[in-house]
Amino acid sequence: MKTPPLKRKTRNSKFKIRNSKTRQRRTTNYELRILPNVQLGIGSSIGDYCVIGEPPRGNKPGELETHIGARAVIRSHTVIYAGNIIGDDFQTGHGALVREENRIGNNVSIGSHTIVEHHVVIGNNVRLHSNVFVPEFSVLEDDCWLGPNVVVTNARYPRSHNVKEQLRGATIKRGAKIGANATLLPGVVIGENALVGAGAVVTRDVPAGAVVVGNPARVARCVVEIEEYR
Ligand SMILES: CC(C)(COP(=O)(O)OP(=O)(O)OC[C@H]1O[C@@H](n2cnc3c(N)ncnc32)[C@H](O)[C@@H]1OP(=O)(O)O)[C@@H](O)C(=O)NCCC(=O)NCCS
Repeated sequence: MKTPPLKRKTRNSKFKIRNSKTRQRRTTNYELRILPNVQLGIGSSIGDYCVIGEPPRGNKPGELETHIGARAVIRSHTVIYAGNIIGDDFQTGHGALVREENRIGNNVSIGSHTIVEHHVVIGNNVRLHSNVFVPEFSVLEDDCWLGPNVVVTNARYPRSHNVKEQLRGATIKRGAKIGANATLLPGVVIGENALVGAGAVVTRDVPAGAVVVGNPARVARCVVEIEEYR
């Protein structure tokens, strides 16, 4: 396949590119790739070596529209595939990867080295910390929060027959928080405002407002009992 031409950063672009003067002085072959059919909202900035609108396998460059709202801050080495519809005030850390055809709301932050696979639905005001893995068909409702190294899974029997047809992402309901290093098994539903403790392995649905800990995760208390959340 013919590789689309690299777009060099330019002062005339419709978006602002951070530190362009300094970077140009330091290196002459710095490149950033924005593929065709990418709409980037006003006031957005894109860091070094980002790729925006990468076509997924089987699609030509520009075949899928990519829309990113106003005031995005996309930090260096982030790759965003084509076919994403992303709201305003989107942020990524360094080296984030967002695969194709996701729906992402306003004011969402995707941390450094976090991976969001394809066909994921993310609501408004969602925060994904660093090194989080969110596989296809996951649903992250408004205001939820995933700590560092959280792993969401979607294949109960990896590499089994028909595994692709049986993928089931987790659903993280509004306002739920997932502690560092927790693992969510395929298809679990984390209830509204629930809190999953650090390192928990969640094998069953978590009731709304519950605090769960351990492997397998069990209800330890209720979020309302924690003074800091009152
Ligand atoms: C789950 C959590 C909210 C519980 O906090 P808490 O209600 O104040 O609980 P306590 O610290 O009083 O501990 C109560 C008991 O649960 C245990 N416990 C606490 N957190 C645990 C966890 N994540 N996994 C397993 N057991 C845990 C404690 O060892 C203690 O057991 P014990 O009574 O036998 O001694 C908290 O420990 C936690 O994991 N928070 C998430 C932290 C995180 O990932 N932050 C990410 C930001 S960087």
